Amino acid sequence: MKHLLSISDLDRAEIEDLLTLAAEFSSVLERDIPKVPTLRGRTIATVFFEASTRTRLSFERAAKALSADVMSFAPGTSSVTKGESLKDTVLTLEATGADLFVVRHGSVGAAARVAGWVNGPVINGGDGAHQHPTQALLDALTLRQRFGKLDGLKVGIVGDIANSRVARSNIDAFTKLGAQVELIAPSPLLPVDLSAFPVTVSGSLEDSLPHLDVVYLLRVQIERGSGPILPSLAEYGLRFGMNRQRLQMLPADAVVMHPGPINRGVEITADVADDPRSLVLDQVQNGVSTRMAVIFRLLGAS
Ligand code: CP
Repeated sequence: MKHLLSISDLDRAEIEDLLTLAAEFSSVLERDIPKVPTLRGRTIATVFFEASTRTRLSFERAAKALSADVMSFAPGTSSVTKGESLKDTVLTLEATGADLFVVRHGSVGAAARVAGWVNGPVINGGDGAHQHPTQALLDALTLRQRFGKLDGLKVGIVGDIANSRVARSNIDAFTKLGAQVELIAPSPLLPVDLSAFPVTVSGSLEDSLPHLDVVYLLRVQIERGSGPILPSLAEYGLRFGMNRQRLQMLPADAVVMHPGPINRGVEITADVADDPRSLVLDQVQNGVSTRMAVIFRLLGAS
């Protein structure tokens, strides 16, 4: 693996290898000194052209836990404001000493473009509505911890599928690991062409809940244009939001997931977000060890 741009870069064995390594790094993070010296002298650049809390901070924490140095690039305080291009930006970071690039950008294919310009490995931290591969890996790790394996799990992905890079990555990762995925959304929030997705589709959350092991809620992405195509966010929450009453419609050992950031009161009520059956913070925690595993596989051998 030279880069991680998409879950399609990985087969089942490679995903399972990364999850196993991530589980080993989880135990490193529980030590008194949660650090290994593996990447001493190497530098990770986080190049985020879109906002992030979880992805950027967990990559930076992961890099430091591997003893790498971190260069944290923010466009608003950089020479991008003077018109510098993406290409010149990443070449400048490489000339400054970056060995690996984590790239988040609003344009589909941006991380792949960067991979064509720099010598070091590139990890896609989210490109438009295309891919967010490390989110899918950390979610798969969270499910493997809870259920032992994904084979046969029934996962409902709910909400703004059309605009979701998380949905695209997770459908690919979950089905490669043997889960069955159902997309649950109002038709305006579904992609026009679903023929490439190995999924079933439902228009009713309440019909689907009794047969799901996992309800995976997506944020309604107002910034990508989803707001105006819905009657209102309140109406969306009434039909597709997860609340206490709907939680009780799930099988007893089913769980609730969300990639964050959460719109409390829209796709999930506050009490469900904080319920013991919600794995939201387990997902965040697993982001660190998962990203350690990906960085290690891309840089560790060289
Ligand atoms: N899940 C996720 O990508 O969160 P951030 O946008 O906060 O990184």
